[in-house]
Amino acid sequence: MSLNTLEEIAAFIVSNGKGILAADESNPTCGKRFDSIGVESSEANRRDYREMLFRSSGMKDNIGGVILFDETIRQDAKDGTSLVQVISDQGALPGIKVDQGLKPLDGSPEETLTQGLEGLHDRCSEYFQLGAKFTKWRAVIKIDGELPTSDCIESNMQALAEYAKIVQDNNMVPMVEPEVLMDGDHSIDRCYEVSSAALKSLFAAMETRGVNIKGTILKPNMVTAGSLCESQASIAEVAEMTLRCLKENVPSDLPGITFLSGGQSDLNSTAHLDAMNKIGGFPWKLSFSYGRALQQAALKSWLGKIENMPSAQAALSHRALMNKLAAQGAWSSDLEG
Ligand code: 13P
Repeated sequence: MSLNTLEEIAAFIVSNGKGILAADESNPTCGKRFDSIGVESSEANRRDYREMLFRSSGMKDNIGGVILFDETIRQDAKDGTSLVQVISDQGALPGIKVDQGLKPLDGSPEETLTQGLEGLHDRCSEYFQLGAKFTKWRAVIKIDGELPTSDCIESNMQALAEYAKIVQDNNMVPMVEPEVLMDGDHSIDRCYEVSSAALKSLFAAMETRGVNIKGTILKPNMVTAGSLCESQASIAEVAEMTLRCLKENVPSDLPGITFLSGGQSDLNSTAHLDAMNKIGGFPWKLSFSYGRALQQAALKSWLGKIENMPSAQAALSHRALMNKLAAQGAWSSDLEG
């Protein structure tokens, strides 16, 4: 597999229905996931869990990239093979989360600004040496009453654009993730409005900074009602509104859009992606970069026990295949078994 340019790397990750396994939980977030199954979040347990995921047979042909956390990109599997090599052996590209989390936004402390631009160039050059081919930076936008402020959108999108440029200068593909959170009781129309504003601001900022769009992947939220909204939209409505929002705001030369799952159920994440690909008529590949929606079933099967590894791997493999089919508009609920 010889991928030399940013365009080739980006196109490879989303080729033939492939998507991304987001396994870049920070140690505190991984701790929360492990708490839910009563497993201690030690370095060894995090390694064992992720090694198990990366060695699942369903990684092959379904997963084009894996996003790692700093700890994981430096770890070796039990037999001494680097986890980066384990991922490559499955035909997937290693990626790395490079943002350094959220800080309260000056002037609007209920909102956040993603940190990590300081020293980013040097960190990127090290990650490139460690084998990373792409990177992720997550900006968070919260809907609540009058929020988000325009300053929250603007400053986060400027940071995303600056990050993307630095990453491309280090020969890796930046994933830009402007996540409008599902938390709250807002309507789907409000999510549409805020998601549109964020995407407009993001692509304007990337153009100003000379980011190569053909060597970039967008990781957006789907347009949904807030998780506490009483009137939840249908699968068809989420698919139509998400597509409309993307068509209005995303340049046609962007190679791939890989959604986050953001707290949607496993099945909804798959059904929404499938519905959009069945509608079709857009210039980009539309695929997945799921964390929870790929891992949840595997985590619950595993429970930290060696004897559960085969069933946990089967659970991940199944979701990876279902989402690959959804990225081709070829999924059906009958396939869920
Ligand atoms: P979820 O799919 O669990 O939202 O995670 C994706 C991700 O990487 C968020 O940054």
